[in-house]
Amino acid sequence: MATAREELAAPSWRLRAMTQADLPRVAALERGSYVFPWNDQIFADCLRVGYHCVVVENAAGVAGYGVLSMGAGEAHILNLCIADAWRRRGIGRALLLALLAHARDRGVRDAFLEVRRTNRAAIALYHAFGFECVGTRRGYYQAQDGREDALVYRLELGALP
Ligand SMILES: CC(C)(COP(=O)(O)OP(=O)(O)OC[C@H]1O[C@@H](n2cnc3c(N)ncnc32)[C@H](O)[C@@H]1OP(=O)(O)O)[C@@H](O)C(=O)NCCC(=O)NCCS
Repeated sequence: MATAREELAAPSWRLRAMTQADLPRVAALERGSYVFPWNDQIFADCLRVGYHCVVVENAAGVAGYGVLSMGAGEAHILNLCIADAWRRRGIGRALLLALLAHARDRGVRDAFLEVRRTNRAAIALYHAFGFECVGTRRGYYQAQDGREDALVYRLELGALP
């Protein structure tokens, strides 16, 4: 949780493009948020190939990030993460909306994403957006006790608010 001092110091936040300089902090948040995190090189590659990479910044610094790829009329949410201390304040929802709106405004019709079957917080967020489960990738993710399925979700971007 955020400390009282953080709460007072950081009532607001903004989205901006991720840069190379953000990578150490982004990778640290990643390691703190996932049991099987992306490594630093994956984020560097996302920037290099021109994926839409965004960070959430507040008075305490970078507090979250998202990565979106687009191609062939489809967008893919590749990563979406809010630092533990800043969750449940509507920031993940706003970040996801910004990523999806970015794609929609560029003529993309559908957005897809994969999520671990056990990731209840993320699945609740995606349902709140109207994402529909369109498939399962069996054993897609590494897991502590073997493999875990990915659920594949799709949203028609015309339905975005
Ligand atoms: C998923 C994640 C990005 C949500 O970020 P967040 O800023 O906490 O989300 P928000 O506060 O905007 O929540 C929006 C809605 O999502 C749902 N939600 C978010 N966290 C939830 C939780 N822990 N339990 C149940 N529902 C949750 C709720 O519907 C919530 O609306 P509400 O607060 O009005 O009930 C965040 O939990 C996270 O970074 N998790 C670790 C990384 C991860 O798993 N990313 C997704 C990979 S597919």
